[in-house]
Amino acid sequence: MTSYTLALLPGDGIGRDVMVEAEKVLNIIEELTPLSFETNKIPCGGMHYLETGEEWPEGSFEFCRDEADAILLGAVGWPGAMTESGDLAGGSVILGIRSGLDLYANVRPIRLYEGVRHNIHGEFMQVWKPGQVDMIIVRENTEGLYHSLLRRSADKAQGREGWDPGSMEFPGLEGEVAWDPRPISRNGSERVFRYAFEAARRRNGCPRDGTTRVTCVDKSNVTRGCQLFNRIYHEIAEEYPEIETDHAYIDAFCMWAVRNPEWFDVVVTPNMFGDISTDLASVLQGGMGIAASANLGDEHGMFEPVHGSAPKYAGKNKTNPMAMINSVALMFDWLGETKGDADCKAVSDFIELAVTEVLKGDTLTYDLGGTSGTSDVGDAIVNVLEAHLRKHFAVA
Ligand code: IPM
Ligand code: MN
Repeated sequence: MTSYTLALLPGDGIGRDVMVEAEKVLNIIEELTPLSFETNKIPCGGMHYLETGEEWPEGSFEFCRDEADAILLGAVGWPGAMTESGDLAGGSVILGIRSGLDLYANVRPIRLYEGVRHNIHGEFMQVWKPGQVDMIIVRENTEGLYHSLLRRSADKAQGREGWDPGSMEFPGLEGEVAWDPRPISRNGSERVFRYAFEAARRRNGCPRDGTTRVTCVDKSNVTRGCQLFNRIYHEIAEEYPEIETDHAYIDAFCMWAVRNPEWFDVVVTPNMFGDISTDLASVLQGGMGIAASANLGDEHGMFEPVHGSAPKYAGKNKTNPMAMINSVALMFDWLGETKGDADCKAVSDFIELAVTEVLKGDTLTYDLGGTSGTSDVGDAIVNVLEAHLRKHFAVA
């Protein structure tokens, strides 16, 4: 019996809907495997802020830092929910955790499973084939254009006075000017590149011909931060001579990702470029209903669907829970890796298998061309998962 302490942060909108399905998955795992969970469900986000005046209860950050083995997040952000300082309400949850727990690698797998059709112009068709899309985008997660808000959020989560970048004069600009510095550091870059190269070592290469390749995506033709980022990429690449190096400017990457996704294996990019390009890349795998993510540091991990809180679908039993359930699979994979727990590894594989099997059937939500509800899809995944767990863990 191994017990893990999990922080569950449903957050806002559809984040709450998909967390219900994640809990069903956790329950069946607890029932049928030697794993057990101590879960702490923490209310948080913009809706919670509007109701209570706080983004999450006091002590929540400390719980995530000191008690939780892993953190599972739904989504944060709600229309009209801004803090007094004018920041996103819920920011000290998602960004406070990313920055405060030093989760420097935001890993977003883009894999197209069999049976998934692409919704283009409202029609469902197969544009890319399953064997053509299997990459991970590693988004730097602690600096870049997010740095100011990350820093303010982490300060707030830890009860410190918020850092402010101060003011600056911009020659040639008159009147009101708002600005966000975009610092990129050597340390921040080194660690995210090392993560990317190590991840490439564990994978099977790009779909096209199995070449193991790390693509640095930046804008080093324009910005100094990216010039440093790119320089450090080449330095770290020298430690991995067996891995092919590759480079694309972010604008060109967006084109190539759509046109020749089979080229890409591991892609690594600064914070904001990673935010934008992963929404684009989610289309390759069938959309945001499937896209999962792992926010990883050396000591902590937070797992969340890439999608946001989607207010217009909140509470309507419409949202695809697969992005969340895939994030649960990433969580078990990471727990398996970091704790050396083979049961967690097996559970991760079975969750992924269950999702792929359900994707071949017709219990699908609207985003994949189906008419099923969030709970139907969650139940279908749990049913398949249950059969696999019973067999593997030999529970009568
Ligand atoms: C994401 C989200 C967040 C981000 C928001 C909710 C702050 O869009 O995880 O991609 O911009 O990082
Ligand atoms: Mn985003």
